[in-house]
Amino acid sequence: MPANVVGQLSILDIILTLSFTLFIILVGRRFLSSFPWSDIRQLLTGFRITNSHPFSLSRAYTSYLRYASLSKQEVSTMEQSYGSIGRAHKQLGYKIGYPRKLNQFREAIGRNTTITTAIATLAAQEFSLEDNSYETNQADLSRVRESMKHFVRDWSEEGAGEREQIFKPILHVLQQVPPSERAGLKVLVPGSGLGRLAWEISQLGFTTKAVEFSYFMTLAMRFLFSPNTTTKPNQHQIQPFAHWFSHQRSNETLFRAVHVPDVVPRFSSNLELIEDDFLKLQPPRVPTSSASADSGYDFIVTLFFIDTSINIFSTIEKIYYLLRPGGTWINLGPLLWPASAQAKAELSLDEVMHLVQQIGFTVHGAGEKDDIQAPRTVECEYTSDKHAMMRWIYRAEFWVASKRS
Ligand SMILES: C[S@@+](CC[C@H](N)C(=O)[O-])C[C@H]1O[C@@H](n2cnc3c(N)ncnc32)[C@H](O)[C@@H]1O
Repeated sequence: MPANVVGQLSILDIILTLSFTLFIILVGRRFLSSFPWSDIRQLLTGFRITNSHPFSLSRAYTSYLRYASLSKQEVSTMEQSYGSIGRAHKQLGYKIGYPRKLNQFREAIGRNTTITTAIATLAAQEFSLEDNSYETNQADLSRVRESMKHFVRDWSEEGAGEREQIFKPILHVLQQVPPSERAGLKVLVPGSGLGRLAWEISQLGFTTKAVEFSYFMTLAMRFLFSPNTTTKPNQHQIQPFAHWFSHQRSNETLFRAVHVPDVVPRFSSNLELIEDDFLKLQPPRVPTSSASADSGYDFIVTLFFIDTSINIFSTIEKIYYLLRPGGTWINLGPLLWPASAQAKAELSLDEVMHLVQQIGFTVHGAGEKDDIQAPRTVECEYTSDKHAMMRWIYRAEFWVASKRS
């Protein structure tokens, strides 16, 4: 074969190979459009996809462990921005103490690291973790920062006002059950976050299960509930607002320390944590002698939860399935719908209430003026900074519904 033909074939081969590769990528993107590029990269490079869930144990563990380095990147970026201003402005900045503020931010990160490292250390012991080679990014840092704000809402004296607003309507309904009957009743709290509401319900005497699939939440919860890490009230100090420079009246409020926990919580025979997807749960087993009609939870309590569903139809069906006939669903929350993943349907409150009835619930009606089960709108906040110059008020909806047989 003449040399120039070989040369032409090689170029043709290369063009065909490249076209084929491009074709595969484009077709792949067309049919796997819900796959982010990072996942495709992981598949191609053989990266550990089993741990790639955004809330997985290894991801949360590594993120707590790397909180300091991830946060320092954030400060460095801020220092670089500040460093790029002119000399005259730097002098003004120096006079108002801005460089000192960036130093205070570094110090706050240092203090918060005491807790994030302790959370990771406990996780390593409890789950026998060794590998921390997981790739982390700023999204992981934001999940750690969010969990610090949950520390305040759920487990500090500062969070008491916010808790009162949203826990009280729920706990009032449960308090109507005579104390002597409570231990025999099973309560499920899906999407339990840092666990304060589930703990409060267990303190009333109910047999309570908290379900949470984000290890960013459950590792922090384990840290507060473990006698190895938390032994007395207000033992730990964090500066949870240090990462939010916006809407601050002063640097005192920005860097204020919050002590946690206001009470020392423990797991017990009537409080269990299930670290799993609520959609995978089965109704609790009942002794074989009991009537099968009675299997299922007596109460399911959802707080700021149902609107985190990718598929609200599945969530409400699951609540129905897990309750015993006649069992009670108590809900309080908004309808934000998930921002990080596309919800299959984003319903209005009217549509949700219609769906609830279609699936087989009877919603408690408006009733008397002081009826504690009456559906109503509850103005509330969610992990807010009460000293900030900005407030985000939810007009969350509260309802109590019974499973029709
Ligand atoms: C908006 S947060 C509210 C947390 C808690 N109820 C509170 O009020 O602090 C919703 C929580 O539900 C969890 N979650 C969402 N879907 C879940 C599921 N299918 N199974 C278990 N947890 C879930 C999330 O990880 C998140 O912690």
